[in-house]
Amino acid sequence: MIDTTSYRGPDRVFSGIQPTGNLHLGNYLGALKKFVDLQEAGWDALYCVVDLHAITQPYDMQALPDQTRQIAAAMLASGLSPEKSTIFVQSSVPAHVELAWIFNCVARMGWVEKMTQFKDKGGDNSERVSLGLLAYPVLQAADILAYKATHVPVGEDQKQHLELSRNIAARFNQQFDAPGFFPEPEALIKGPGARVMSLKDGLKKMSKSDPSDLSRINLIDDADTIARKIKKAKTDLLGDMPADVAGLEGRPEVENLVGIYGALSGQSVAAVLDEFGGQGFGAFKPALADIAVAHLAPITADMRHYMADPAEIDRTLAAGAEKAHAVSDPILREVRSIMGFWGAG
Ligand code: AMP
Ligand code: TRP
Repeated sequence: MIDTTSYRGPDRVFSGIQPTGNLHLGNYLGALKKFVDLQEAGWDALYCVVDLHAITQPYDMQALPDQTRQIAAAMLASGLSPEKSTIFVQSSVPAHVELAWIFNCVARMGWVEKMTQFKDKGGDNSERVSLGLLAYPVLQAADILAYKATHVPVGEDQKQHLELSRNIAARFNQQFDAPGFFPEPEALIKGPGARVMSLKDGLKKMSKSDPSDLSRINLIDDADTIARKIKKAKTDLLGDMPADVAGLEGRPEVENLVGIYGALSGQSVAAVLDEFGGQGFGAFKPALADIAVAHLAPITADMRHYMADPAEIDRTLAAGAEKAHAVSDPILREVRSIMGFWGAG
């Protein structure tokens, strides 16, 4: 029997990054580096600066345009090419908002109330957070499905949001009797760097919103700052570097530093420990600083170069928006028709 429920469209990648604050090594290893790898592997891919997500919490409207350009600059500096991938800003393509509203009427309250990121960001005072913060992952599903994207490269923290996107896609298909219309998008999380932890606490993820700048390596940090932050990174009193993976048990800070080294050097954790096992942190940390600087310095320099010409970034983003619109517009037309909207044919 033919399986009419499964999606048979082309493979397509979509991912987004919010224009909030400085990008850090976690964003680079968990997201940007994967974007570039997928582009180089020849995937049809769209990468989006998700400004509509950034307004779900208090933000600085004066700073938003430059923060938006900064994410675009980071994408370009990391190696994304506007010829090979579609790079654009979420608010410049109307399909995101339209499909998000439709999905607000498909998703169930119980699904969104369960989201751990909402609970973390919202705290327990629902009077103080916007309705948009609750709907945040629904907009994320709309981002992905407005292009019928099948694969979504993200860090580990987005796993639950991707599960929600899958549920929304499946429920839409079922509710509107449109088997296989939307794919159930798959998160691409695996690989080194999916969860980079704070340099100050191996149990907390590296985050833009951590009050301590020493907790993260920013993409715009200079070489001295990177070296200083790694030197000050927390380790433990359990002795030198372990010789094997089992020796990382109960040593989250060390595990994080070794993981970062492996992700940057393209080596497995075991290979890194083969090299550094038995040595002190006095030897390992400078080696880690060297490899981090070697990797990030050209990206930082390129970011500054792109940021020096905002008009060029704007042209790139405008061209990207046109390409994105050309993909999402026919999909939205079909959605309107499936749902029975007047004038949708
Ligand atoms: P955001 O800055 O929250 O928009 O995140 C952009 C991307 O970076 C998402 O794919 C996140 O999953 C990823 N990301 C954020 N923080 C980390 C981290 N500490 N480790 C790995 N990936 C991360
Ligand atoms: N929520 C994601 C984050 O905080 C950003 C995002 C918005 C996203 N829309 C997306 C990621 C669509 C992947 C696909 O990192």
